[in-house]
Amino acid sequence: MVVLVTGGAGFIGRWVVKKLLQDKKKVIVIDNLSNSRIENLDEFKENENLIDIIIDDIRNRAIIENIFGKFKISTCIHLAAQIDVQESIEHPDRAFEINVLGTYHILEAARKTNSKVVIIGTCLVYDMADTKVAISETHRIKPRSPYAGSKIAAEELAFSYYYGLGLPIVVLRPFNTYGPFQKTNMEGGVISIFVKLKNKGEKLKIFGDGTQTRDFLYVEDCADFIVGASENENCIGEVINAGMGNDISINELAKLIADDENLIKHVKHHHPQSEIMKLVCDNSKAKNLLNWEPKTPLKEGIQKLENWIMKFERGK
Ligand SMILES: NC(=O)c1ccc[n+]([C@@H]2O[C@H](COP(=O)([O-])OP(=O)(O)OC[C@H]3O[C@@H](n4cnc5c(N)ncnc54)[C@H](O)[C@@H]3O)[C@@H](O)[C@H]2O)c1
Repeated sequence: MVVLVTGGAGFIGRWVVKKLLQDKKKVIVIDNLSNSRIENLDEFKENENLIDIIIDDIRNRAIIENIFGKFKISTCIHLAAQIDVQESIEHPDRAFEINVLGTYHILEAARKTNSKVVIIGTCLVYDMADTKVAISETHRIKPRSPYAGSKIAAEELAFSYYYGLGLPIVVLRPFNTYGPFQKTNMEGGVISIFVKLKNKGEKLKIFGDGTQTRDFLYVEDCADFIVGASENENCIGEVINAGMGNDISINELAKLIADDENLIKHVKHHHPQSEIMKLVCDNSKAKNLLNWEPKTPLKEGIQKLENWIMKFERGK
């Protein structure tokens, strides 16, 4: 049983790799390191179950087919993606080529070896939550950026292989994920960016009025969810959300992190048309199907991230 993790050197990917190795699974990683560092996997260098780390691109169809055939991949957890919303607005072609065409290459290779494919989607495909109702898997879809459009297109393509070709497919939609190893620049997440700015004594910049809300999931809870769903037969053919089940506005988040309102400033949103004003996850399907529950409260997760950022900065 060999699991291929695409994007395995990335933020969520390296935690998925960690969980798989803890569970004594054999793992292969492919990543082109366009948004990550090979050092993210240093902790596992000596682990004999980490069979190979292939520095290559999912747009390279031949290499993908070679990996599936050579290593007899049983499951592919597909995380590799162009994840930057702003970049997708400026260069929709990159979102399409990596997120749609790249997924097509994975599906085609998996079809030849009848491997399971676990697609990591995103909550950004949804329309905003209604005032009192959290977002379940049947909530309205409204892709507001080429990033979201390419992610929902990849999901639908995968489902066509499930319904039309009988390929085992699982689609997972984590909500905003944060924690150690997330980038602290604009390609990272808002919590990492805020913590880094606070540590540098700089002002936390909020795009727009800050009333937009997010449901933040700690990365190890996210990795447990992904690995659990990848191993559960009941998840095949399903879309499953993961989040805490409660949201916080970006204004409240900034106050929680900065602890001083003078350290917060509002700036003009650079893509207001792509903003989703309320995101809160209904995670009951994950709870029922997988017996999964997020374990890490927001405050505790932020503390873990802050500790990691301080250690990482010291080690530079
Ligand atoms: N971070 C979040 O809040 C979040 C939430 C929901 C879903 N997701 C999804 O989870 C996945 C991982 O996101 P992340 O936050 O860890 O981002 P990330 O950028 O850290 O991880 C993506 C990885 O894919 C690699 N990659 C990019 N293009 C590639 C290509 N053409 N070939 C090979 N490798 C390539 C990058 O180098 C990176 O290591 C993505 O599919 C993203 O859409 C993320």
